[in-house]
Amino acid sequence: MDNDKNRPGYRLALFATLLAVVVVLLGAYTRLTHAGLGCPDWPGCYGFIGVPQSEAQLAHAEANFPHAPVEAEKGWNEMVHRYFAGTLGLLILGLAVHALRRRGQDGQPLKLPLLLLGVVIAQAAFGMWTVTLQLWPQVVTAHLLGGFTTLSLLLLLCLRLSNAYPPLELPARLRRWAVLGLALVIGQIALGGWVSSNYAAVACVDLPTCHGQWWPAMDFANGFHLTQHIGPNYLGGQLDSDARTAIHMTHRLGALAVTLVLLGLAWQLRGAGLPRLAGLLLAALCLQVGLGISNVIFHLPLPVAVAHNGGGALLLLVLVSVNYRVRSPAVSVEASSAREMAGSGGSRAELAPTAMTPHGK
Ligand code: HEM
Repeated sequence: MDNDKNRPGYRLALFATLLAVVVVLLGAYTRLTHAGLGCPDWPGCYGFIGVPQSEAQLAHAEANFPHAPVEAEKGWNEMVHRYFAGTLGLLILGLAVHALRRRGQDGQPLKLPLLLLGVVIAQAAFGMWTVTLQLWPQVVTAHLLGGFTTLSLLLLLCLRLSNAYPPLELPARLRRWAVLGLALVIGQIALGGWVSSNYAAVACVDLPTCHGQWWPAMDFANGFHLTQHIGPNYLGGQLDSDARTAIHMTHRLGALAVTLVLLGLAWQLRGAGLPRLAGLLLAALCLQVGLGISNVIFHLPLPVAVAHNGGGALLLLVLVSVNYRVRSPAVSVEASSAREMAGSGGSRAELAPTAMTPHGK
């Protein structure tokens, strides 16, 4: 098995992962500058490949989209996000083609790149619906989750291709903590997307209380009415104050739960001889909580809000790495056996759990 980072496809996967980080941040920037509807159509912008500029283009835009006057800056924010996302889509297509060509070769994942391709195609559709359904919060949140999923799967592909971290023999309890931590972080990211897409960031401006109360008036039924109808335009939000307060407070309580579980996970990692991973987890958690609190205290400054989105992505990537690092050797053996039984040519060497060092790093 190629046992290093020269494996074909690794560099492309790494580049795609870095690009995905940029695309996620650009997406947050687009939304936070209220540029999500900077181009009222998709995939073009007022029917053009760029934002209309010449007199003729502007006249064409006005005639065809009378309810959406051209705002060049917002249009460019949206289009730059689309160009970068489009490039990422092509790279992922390249990774899938590459995996198909090398299928059956040692250590070459196939299902993962194909899954990535499926996710990125779905992401393009959600990007389109974000515009055509006028920032419907359900779609905006799903689009955010899709972006984070793409990023996580790309990191996983890099880890698989690099072949750098063989499974370790670790207590099953640690794996359960890692899975719980990952599940809670995913839930908290979904809640964060719900906060931002419903414009509930400044529903509470004091902290730790909200409107001076520990348990302010909240309307959970409307705040989490997931089948709400598709309204005319969700820019700026449609919910009343109590519903937004419910969403905001749920994200705060979610942060508390995430913090407690990740502290426990860091403790377990340290006990299992993985102190660097524990330190990385704690650093990502502190950064994210600090940015979240700054969002509230400083009333959502643009750089902090974008950084909080990036911090959420970083925390998720750390959790994906932790789960990969503590995966069970038995799972790897099973996966290899399955590949071999399917006749895809997995080697005998793959069947042996490579390095089951009790406290390896
Ligand atoms: C503990 C882990 C946390 C995670 C993983 C997390 C994740 C996220 C994510 C992914 C978003 C959506 C960002 C976007 O759409 O661009 C968000 C929004 C937000 N979060 Fe957090 N968050 C965490 C903690 C906190 C804390 C402790 C607070 C404050 C007490 C907070 C306050 C906010 C606010 C105000 C928003 C809305 C920002 C906006 O409208 O862009 N978060 N969070």
